[in-house]
Amino acid sequence: MFSKKPQKALSLLKNGASKHEVLEKTGQNVGLYNINFDIYEGEIFVIMGLSGSGKSTLLRCINRLINPTDGHILIDGDDIATASSEELREIRRQKLGMVFQNFALIPHRSVLDNVAYGLEIQGVSKEERYENAMEAIETVGLKGYESSKTSQLSGGMQQRVGLARALATDPDILLMDEAFSALDPLIRSEMQDELLALEDKMQKTIVFISHDLDESLKLGDRIMIMNDGYIAQIGTAEEILTNPADDYVSKFVAGVDRSKIFTAEAVMKRAEPVVSINSGLKVALQLMREHGISSIFVVARDKTLKGIITVDAAVEGLKQNKTLQEVMVEDIPVAHPDTPLNELIPIIENTSPLPVASEDNKLRGIIVRGSVLGALAIEEV
Ligand SMILES: Nc1ncnc2c1ncn2[C@@H]1O[C@H](COP(=O)(O)OP(=O)(O)O)[C@@H](O)[C@H]1O
Ligand SMILES: [Mg+2]
Repeated sequence: MFSKKPQKALSLLKNGASKHEVLEKTGQNVGLYNINFDIYEGEIFVIMGLSGSGKSTLLRCINRLINPTDGHILIDGDDIATASSEELREIRRQKLGMVFQNFALIPHRSVLDNVAYGLEIQGVSKEERYENAMEAIETVGLKGYESSKTSQLSGGMQQRVGLARALATDPDILLMDEAFSALDPLIRSEMQDELLALEDKMQKTIVFISHDLDESLKLGDRIMIMNDGYIAQIGTAEEILTNPADDYVSKFVAGVDRSKIFTAEAVMKRAEPVVSINSGLKVALQLMREHGISSIFVVARDKTLKGIITVDAAVEGLKQNKTLQEVMVEDIPVAHPDTPLNELIPIIENTSPLPVASEDNKLRGIIVRGSVLGALAIEEV
């Protein structure tokens, strides 16, 4: 509640009143209400909503730049809402980093000193803070710019400095309030890609505010859509697109090109059965017969994808006393878990089933033609 005397409003809210009704009856502005949710360790949790829906207020409650009037905010079991100022300082220091939309840098300071700032106010020695800051500067791709003044940098580079400053203290949780909204579209998209790449390496928990649907769908492991101070829906991109909770969410997601959102991972099935590269052709044939399939993927013991064998090639190879490795076709198309469905459609026309493998070529699943078209068809309804 943005009010010094919130009691009446709080009891109205507890009895089910909306933000609008509270405003009418008390003249007081409700920041947030009915907010109850979890953020999982290591995920990118996107908070999306129209301007004024309460996104920034919520984020600022998490590090208590805003004091919540009521309720609890637990980080690893510690309640931020009731923490003493000493406890709060400690939690902020160890666990929380924040990146702002307007970068919030100190213009006459060098990149290095901006990045080291968080450590400086924590009283970390010069040597140690410069060492950590240099590491963060390298992480965000600004090596070589450490002595430049931030006012001399482009917007994209300034936001890299903002990100490096948050990373320098190595927080578990990064809070990012519309961190990319002020950037040009191309730079913005580049920064999104880099954040995803960074997240793959760092595995931090990121709470990312955006009012942009495309950005939210691209970045969010899960997305929370806010409306007028309450949670309209929480879910994965797929869940929100397939099953919008109300009209507000429906309007938000209308017009999204679904084939760009639905990915290989979303439609793949378990790769079962597979045959080991150390097996013989007889085993491969038997597995195909048992499961009524006409081809089978070959994997190493660690699930690395090696190739595919068709039933015809296996029968022929057996006659000629060939080994499984001689018969196997190695050079096959492979989808990545993140490959969007619209890119899969032309491939799946000619290659079904299509293997889905991770970056290190481990087999994650398979896609058959029907499931791609099925997923797209459901979305048309
Ligand atoms: N300091 C404040 N005092 C009074 N009302 C505020 C204050 N900050 C935000 N609000 C109100 O809280 C609501 C949510 O604002 P905000 O969290 O900034 O939304 P968003 O970040 O989604 O645009 C708005 O109605 C806004 O006017
Ligand atoms: Mg905001």
